[in-house]
Amino acid sequence: MLVLGVETSCDETGLALVRDGALVSEALASQTDMHAVFGGVVPEIASREHLRMLLVLLPQLLAKSGINSADIDAVAVARGPGLLGALLVGLSFAKGLCLGTGARLIGVNHLHAHLLAPGLESDLSYPALGLLVSGGHTHLYRLDGPTQFVLLGRTLDDAAGEAFDKVAKLLNLPYPGGRYLDELAQGAEPDRHLFPRAYIHNDNLDFSFSGLKTAVAEELGKRPHLTLAVMPSADELRTRGALALTAHPEELALVSASFNWAVAETLRIKVERALDREPGLCGLVVAGGVAANSFVRQTMTRLAQGRGLRLHLPGLALCTDNAAMIAHAGWQALRAGYAHGLDLESVPRGRAVPQDWVHTAADEAGASSMLRVVLTHPA
Ligand code: KG4
Ligand code: ZN
Repeated sequence: MLVLGVETSCDETGLALVRDGALVSEALASQTDMHAVFGGVVPEIASREHLRMLLVLLPQLLAKSGINSADIDAVAVARGPGLLGALLVGLSFAKGLCLGTGARLIGVNHLHAHLLAPGLESDLSYPALGLLVSGGHTHLYRLDGPTQFVLLGRTLDDAAGEAFDKVAKLLNLPYPGGRYLDELAQGAEPDRHLFPRAYIHNDNLDFSFSGLKTAVAEELGKRPHLTLAVMPSADELRTRGALALTAHPEELALVSASFNWAVAETLRIKVERALDREPGLCGLVVAGGVAANSFVRQTMTRLAQGRGLRLHLPGLALCTDNAAMIAHAGWQALRAGYAHGLDLESVPRGRAVPQDWVHTAADEAGASSMLRVVLTHPA
């Protein structure tokens, strides 16, 4: 089964082709440089860029993979959570393709897709604990299968990635600054008493990073010389490296390492707690943009080794937003016999994504007849 994945939930426009769950080819256009100067994603700009780039990426992807659009069996689209306008662009594009080619449609929960992403590299072990740490979410799940997710805990305020981005902003680093804080911390020994491991003295599996963010803001208030006078461009950071841009490399490395450590430790404590409460789990999945963080990767690797769990940590390109994970998650749902009609709705950030798919016969005849029904009787 050949599935085209469409990702437009935030500031990456992605298309990918996945055959029977394995990546064939992908095309990704990042908008981060456009949003960097604003300190966050500007929704209007994001939607317009998705609209422009999808039409550029599709012919590129088909040409480089030697595939005709008529060969696509299904279109999997990220239907939320995300920026509403941005999602609508992807959904309309996916529905148009289904109408034009007769492919079936499957809406994908962007968060579940992140957690299934390591399945593109090797089969996941179930039941597993899933930690999703991205720019918008910090969620803990129990995964009983590729379409069975139980939410165990979530952030009450800022997501882990948001905390990284806000601390980076305090230092006058461009958005999204998580990766620069990771880079700044390389080789430095964290001060384990500088920042609190936020919201751990409780009995739950939820997260809260706002206290940590405030602690960092206060600390940086005492060290104003650490904030860069001029915000460097992403290009400058790529070529010269973040540490070359500061007059205080050792001090900035220490503060950054201490912050990275505090986030990774907070995540570890809640993951250990979840594992204690959910006996019998054999896998640990860590996914989302912050799963690219070196402190988080080391911490989770040690934890999984200590507990004898199989660790599923996607490669760096699969941690951040991409369409391969959407196509792969869509394929998992389709082969379990699920599909959506053309009445599929997008779900903005802050609302739960419903599992409102329709169970069809898993064969193509069943799915295309469902598409016809929806076409003649729109909801
Ligand atoms: O999953 P993702 O690409 O987008 C969302 O769905 O939110 O995650 C983006 C987030 C941003 O907050 C970014 O700063 C963070 O992931 N991030 C990192 C690193 N690489 C990306 N945070 C810490 N360390 C990194 N190496
Ligand atoms: Zn994401």
